[in-house]
Amino acid sequence: MTKEEVENLRLGLRNMPAFPVCLITVGKGKEANIITAAMVHVFSFEPPLIGIGIALQRHSHGLLDKEEDFVVNVPGKDLVKETLACGTVSGKEVDKFGLYGLVKTESCKVSAPSISQCPVNFECKKVQKVTTGDHDWFIGEVVAVMVDKKYKRGDGLLYWGGEFRLPGKIIKER
Ligand SMILES: Cc1cc2nc3c(=O)[nH]c(=O)nc-3n(C[C@H](O)[C@H](O)[C@H](O)COP(=O)(O)O)c2cc1C
Repeated sequence: MTKEEVENLRLGLRNMPAFPVCLITVGKGKEANIITAAMVHVFSFEPPLIGIGIALQRHSHGLLDKEEDFVVNVPGKDLVKETLACGTVSGKEVDKFGLYGLVKTESCKVSAPSISQCPVNFECKKVQKVTTGDHDWFIGEVVAVMVDKKYKRGDGLLYWGGEFRLPGKIIKER
């Protein structure tokens, strides 16, 4: 394949509908970091598994390799600026919690902290790493789910192809 064909296929992926975009927290104490990830999916209901696709060169990739757990924090639209910022700078250089005013809070069942401003926190114990292409999928078993009382499912941010969105209206119920 030519370079141009490869680039066209990459751009073609932008036609996928949007995905949830989450703030993943990983690491302990001062080493704890946040990475924005849109490659997030439910991999199983029984057991409950969530996977996050993380590029090999990310600082967080090293932390995910080393640590036993992580938290998938769901931001609302009030955190869109912070979500973009955590996906633009590296925790290798800065403390993203301090820089963006994101409050580290102790999780219930895992050692990675949760972000208190996020209305949903999925606490995950790492069970598997799947190598695909330029991203590795870290699969975590969900061991605790914290949900803010005011949260509605349509409040979680979506992202793909350079655009942040909120879920649209329900057009049919199953
Ligand atoms: C909206 C958005 C979504 C992103 N999704 C992913 C993703 O799914 N996987 C990934 O590896 N990087 C993703 N990134 C890029 C990382 O968040 C970014 O490179 C970040 O600075 C890495 O942080 P770290 O070096 O502290 O790990 C995304 C960035 C943005 C802005």
